Amino acid sequence: MPNIPLRNGGPKARIAVIPGDGIGREVTPVAVQVIRAATAKRNRPLEFVEFDWGADKYLRENVSLPEGAVEMLRDEFDAILFGALGDPRVPSNQHAADILLGLRFKLDLYVNARPTELLHPRFTPLRDRTPADINFMVIRENTEGLYAGVGGFFKKGTPDEIAIQEDVNSRKGVERIIRHAFDYARSHSRSSAGFQPASGGSHKQGESSLARRSSGGSPAAFSDRSISRSGAGFQPASGSSQMPLRLCMSDKSNALAFAHDLWQRVFKSGRAEYPDIDSRHLYIDTLAMELVRDPSQFDVIVTCNLFGDIISDLAAQLAGGLGLAPSANIHPGRTSLFEPVHGSAPNIAGKGIANPFGAVLASGMLLEFLGWNEESAVLKQSVKCALAENVTTPDLGGSKPTLEVASHLSNYVAKHS
Ligand code: NAD
Ligand code: IPM
Ligand code: MN
Repeated sequence: MPNIPLRNGGPKARIAVIPGDGIGREVTPVAVQVIRAATAKRNRPLEFVEFDWGADKYLRENVSLPEGAVEMLRDEFDAILFGALGDPRVPSNQHAADILLGLRFKLDLYVNARPTELLHPRFTPLRDRTPADINFMVIRENTEGLYAGVGGFFKKGTPDEIAIQEDVNSRKGVERIIRHAFDYARSHSRSSAGFQPASGGSHKQGESSLARRSSGGSPAAFSDRSISRSGAGFQPASGSSQMPLRLCMSDKSNALAFAHDLWQRVFKSGRAEYPDIDSRHLYIDTLAMELVRDPSQFDVIVTCNLFGDIISDLAAQLAGGLGLAPSANIHPGRTSLFEPVHGSAPNIAGKGIANPFGAVLASGMLLEFLGWNEESAVLKQSVKCALAENVTTPDLGGSKPTLEVASHLSNYVAKHS
């Protein structure tokens, strides 16, 4: 759908590119290259603007997230393609907190959607598991919890020191993420084909639920389940029945008697409101165990910020590792941010061997957010093809450098677009 205005400003999709630090600077250009290949022939008007925010700038100029950056991104861009932040020269990680957490919080990107899908059976460390068993979405609350930055030191540096980190859970915050998860489960089915909406029913069939300005910014919309279970090039995991996805809410309400009591009560209301959704609760420790024992029991997991961070790394490993895991930081209808789950990997940075698949799959989520579902599907298919042909970096047992994998991906995408 060329020429449909995405922003108020015009027909082009404007994408801010923030490669960041370490391997973020190696995988993000690959993602841009592959997006360009996917959109070139289809005449999708796209503009990339790169920003050099990261450790170098922070050390050089003492600037992390520049003044006015949030407003600029919000008003002038449709999406943000992000690499990773983290540098051994900044042990406090202050610039990462300012930039990454700053953008998540200040753009109010309350949904952190982290799909886990086994794209090729040989990459799971679990015995006898197939792609049909490992295919679920972690929906992580992304704007509060223990990440809110509320706390402080008392008598710092003394033997009597006290360090406090508050777990901030607002009713509004818990309600909106749990509602999003229920809507997501309801609007996706285990055998759905094509890119299905995730909006509590307000979208038309086939319209991307990620589309933002063009769809008027509808609420609770995110369809990356289609990245995991369906869509051109994405294999449906199970038969032909149209079952809504199963939802699992996970907390630690047996120990965190205030914060997670709120999660319990909100979840209970959600269950009453969505009786058609097969939903249940697991404590987070049990969830970790069950994910390893039998991942096939999960379709959608919703949890708080910290638990979502941890469980999404565990989930990533079930499907082959951090190098393959994408993520989307979304506020439906607003400028949103797409990044691989992994960090800046200082241990391999600069060696040219970083796995670009997570970044490329995150770009696929970005294209879906723009409503460009076919392009998104081609990106994912290119990764599947590279995996099948063992065109992979060393973390996946291959011998290819990043740039060779990149060529394979963009050739595939150019050929199939
Ligand atoms: P990491 O994800 O950077 O690396 C963990 C391990 O996975 C390392 O062995 C690394 O080599 C490997 N790995 C990760 N991504 C890979 C890829 N694409 N290809 C090949 N191997 C890959 O996590 P870490 O080592 O705990 O953290 C390093 C820095 O990154 C820290 O400063 C941390 O705060 C930061 N970090 C940033 C983000 C982010 O920007 N979103 C996420 C996680 C960690
Ligand atoms: C992630 C990262 C970040 C997080 C860090 C770098 C603050 O681990 O995106 O998963 O904890 O959210
Ligand atoms: Mn993490």
